[in-house]
Amino acid sequence: VIGTSGEQTAEQIVTAPQPVSKVVTILYGSQTGNAQRLAEGAGKKLEASGYKAEVMSMNDFKPNNLKKLNNLLIVVSTHGEGDPPDNALSFHEFLHGRRAPKLENLQFSVLALGDSSYEFFCETGKQFDARLEELGGTRLYPRFDCDLDYDEPAAEWLQGVLSSLGETHGQSASAAGTSSQHAAVTQPTEVEYSRTNPFRAEVLANINLNGRGSNKETRHLEISLEGSGLSYKPGDSLGIIPENDPELVHELIGELAFNPDETVIVNKQGDGMSLKQALSTYFEITVLTKPLLEKAVKFTENQQLHELAAPGSEGQKAYMEGRDLLDLVRDFGPWSFSAQEFVSILRKMPARLYSIASSFEANPDEVHLTIGTVRYEAHGRDRKGVCSVMCAERLQPGDTVLVYVQHNPNFKLPENPETPVIMVGPGTGVAPFRAFMQEREESGAEGKAWMIFGDQHFVTDFLYQIEWQKWLKEGVLTRMDVAFSRDTSEKVYVQHRMLEQSKELFKWLEEGAAFYICGDEKNMAHDVHHTLLEIIASEGGMSLDRAEEYLAAMQQQKRYQRDVY
Ligand code: 2AM
Repeated sequence: VIGTSGEQTAEQIVTAPQPVSKVVTILYGSQTGNAQRLAEGAGKKLEASGYKAEVMSMNDFKPNNLKKLNNLLIVVSTHGEGDPPDNALSFHEFLHGRRAPKLENLQFSVLALGDSSYEFFCETGKQFDARLEELGGTRLYPRFDCDLDYDEPAAEWLQGVLSSLGETHGQSASAAGTSSQHAAVTQPTEVEYSRTNPFRAEVLANINLNGRGSNKETRHLEISLEGSGLSYKPGDSLGIIPENDPELVHELIGELAFNPDETVIVNKQGDGMSLKQALSTYFEITVLTKPLLEKAVKFTENQQLHELAAPGSEGQKAYMEGRDLLDLVRDFGPWSFSAQEFVSILRKMPARLYSIASSFEANPDEVHLTIGTVRYEAHGRDRKGVCSVMCAERLQPGDTVLVYVQHNPNFKLPENPETPVIMVGPGTGVAPFRAFMQEREESGAEGKAWMIFGDQHFVTDFLYQIEWQKWLKEGVLTRMDVAFSRDTSEKVYVQHRMLEQSKELFKWLEEGAAFYICGDEKNMAHDVHHTLLEIIASEGGMSLDRAEEYLAAMQQQKRYQRDVY
């Protein structure tokens, strides 16, 4: 912020064109709610600086209005293999299609969210940015690509956008600065727990939901939110800030022959802690990213790493897959870094999000989670999911864990309690639907509900079986279909159950049912999506193209929602 005084000179007031009428449109594409929250925050800040901000999801924006815009900000995340979020799909497709208009009068800037451990980092944001330019738009401010720890770069981007807007509209940066400063004064002062300020919550219960002999370990966790002021709605997620496996931290420090008690500075604010604590709680040590390799080469003369880290290196992706920092350190020494230099190449520990498995209304001040424990072998070593194994092995009742609530406006029960719901949630995908059922039971909602669950074995893996049976009996749940994939010689999956019930399923859709998918994205959600299209096409007597439109319309009406990972 350039101007710190709240005063404007008389001259400024007379000569500066009034920016009040300048409209800035902010479109977001958001899967878990982060991009949406940033977009809404940007909107507030713009309003406080005298602009008129129109913030909406890309899904809710009419592409025909694109030509009328002068100032457009895009906040969009990327997920999976470089895919846009669900509520960005149709706009993304329109903009990249032949019917996209010329946009010579448009100024734009893109804030891209992503995860640098994925190959197609911030891909959707990059595509919007390139395409808007191609269509004739002028870049108001350069695109920012944010990694998981996005708060600082996002704030910097917004500040840059504000100054650029001020320049192009004759509004001085200081004027923008003063009014936003004014807004800061009116902010509430009570503590609000968030991703950057998580709540230390007590664990109340922690049990394994799978029976003896199962291939899986799925933990049911109950956590107290008492005293936090936090609450949530079904469909929201709980963020957990995990700690790294103590054994892995120990091996890593040993491998580097560092002193675990040496103090290191961990951030720009100058916070210091012991190396051991930093590697346990502050930094990510289990994932390799391209930026990490690029930073690491500065501290070794090992040619192999120099080749691997080079742009366009062929083996890079394959090397990073399934390896961690300990592998890197072992494979490419000798290293020349100090402990301080070593931590400076690391990424901050990202939080893990879990779909909440309980209703706050039904369990005041509690939150329940359903967490699949991740353990596997890769490159000759046993690997452990950082957060899931911490929950499975190192959280007893009475212990505490750092959490925050991540609201997800894109996965919500229908507003009308009479709207039927169809829920597809195999494995841990069951979690939010337990929350849905608890909520509907608690509120006495009358709408029909259909659960389609799947897992490997009936005997050991039917998660929350007794509860589902109770809801069926009470009528909170209208019908339930289960697909146990490894009880029969041929695999049966949730989508096979859907197909068997095509007629009934389409009938529910025609009655206005909302359709939900939660769980594994890569295989399950993808296959279920295509099965749904098939059912709509065959039962509705339409082409696949028409079926896609049908589903797109459902999505527009928020009747097709996915929480996938
Ligand atoms: P599998 O492990 O026998 O392959 C929850 O993990 C359930 O989802 C399991 O029964 C698992 O079956 C199943 N599953 C795996 N791939 C799937 C897919 N592509 N579509 C639907 N279910 C799938």
